[in-house]
Amino acid sequence: MSKQVSKAYSIEDLRLAARQRLPRAIFDFFDGGAEDEKTLRDNVAAYQRRRLLPRVLTDVSAIDTNALIVGKQARLPIAIAPTGAVGFGRRGGDIAIARAAAAAGIPYTLSSTATASIEQIAKAAPGRLWFQAYILRNKPFLASLIDRAYAADYEALVITVDLPVGGKRERDFRNDFAVPFRFTPKNMLDFAQHPSWLSDIVRYGMPVMENLIGLESQTTNASAIASSVGRNYDPAFNWESLQKIRDTWPRKLIIKGILNPHDAVRVADMGCDALVVSNHGGRQLDGAVATLDALAGIVRAVEGRIPILLDGGIRRGADIFKALAMGAAGVMTGRATLYGVSAAGEAGAQRALEILKDELVRTMQLCGTSAIGNIDRSFIFND
Ligand SMILES: Cc1cc2nc3c(=O)[nH]c(=O)nc-3n(C[C@H](O)[C@H](O)[C@H](O)COP(=O)(O)O)c2cc1C
Repeated sequence: MSKQVSKAYSIEDLRLAARQRLPRAIFDFFDGGAEDEKTLRDNVAAYQRRRLLPRVLTDVSAIDTNALIVGKQARLPIAIAPTGAVGFGRRGGDIAIARAAAAAGIPYTLSSTATASIEQIAKAAPGRLWFQAYILRNKPFLASLIDRAYAADYEALVITVDLPVGGKRERDFRNDFAVPFRFTPKNMLDFAQHPSWLSDIVRYGMPVMENLIGLESQTTNASAIASSVGRNYDPAFNWESLQKIRDTWPRKLIIKGILNPHDAVRVADMGCDALVVSNHGGRQLDGAVATLDALAGIVRAVEGRIPILLDGGIRRGADIFKALAMGAAGVMTGRATLYGVSAAGEAGAQRALEILKDELVRTMQLCGTSAIGNIDRSFIFND
């Protein structure tokens, strides 16, 4: 293990190491959110607002972190959230995260906008694989992606529903961030100051969004990836269109991007297998509720009919504990492994998961509970 990785004690340490290695435009694309980033910050703050109420003297010598995640046991109550464009931070980064997930015994979700293809991931990573689809205007192309995921034995399809249009991500505008890169004086200087990152690009070239090769206008223009959404993604997609996907996809179907309890009930009614309470990591609607705050209402409304996952702001094992205590069956993490892989490749992604696991185990011990299934609302302090 490199010194940099072994000296990372927290997800924040990995974040800082990623910030050091990456050009600012890339780091900000990963790290940033929409507009004033209120929701981005609030996702994290919602965990900080809640305090734990531990029990003691309960024999916590053996801790079991196994959890049922969408119908199958995982070794941790975690699944990797889909993140696009990972390869811009680290060559081979998608595969590295997928392999780290497999080694940790948790599901990995491949993004539609990943820099590795559906087949490359299936070949390189032996674990549970989910494929995340954005709803493209080009329906034959979308159907071919879903068919490919089926053929490559992905166990679940994740439909992201909180991106009818792109969020307004101002860091990207300010940094001249675009795919492929436009070389402006500003970002040339930025790239030149990050030689370890730049040497990979010089040697291998810029990565591409492998799953979108052949889709008209996959390359985005000068003003951020978000701007491509208007051209390629379908803002007319609605409940009826989702029902058609439910009717034709025979495996697990997971709906990601739910914040409103009414929508959660509708997802359960239409026979989906799970939902993800998510605001896209604060990258879409700025001012949307923090996911931990949205969770309780959704748990009440769904009444246990389908499992509820949650993402956004998970930076500590204690955050996972709090999400489970508030009724989530598990969490998804986006930036945690993204920072890790950007800082130090596969070892960095592994380190991110190791940190979260170690902190979760310690939190369980300090809260006096030895199994995931025993974590409930009684551990959250209410005055
Ligand atoms: C750089 C980046 C790219 C993302 N790309 C996608 C994507 O392609 N599809 C998707 O459904 N969500 C995407 N997301 C959102 C994540 O799946 C997830 O909801 C979010 O990162 C969770 O918040 P966290 O990063 O605080 O853990 C992306 C997030 C980031 C940070």
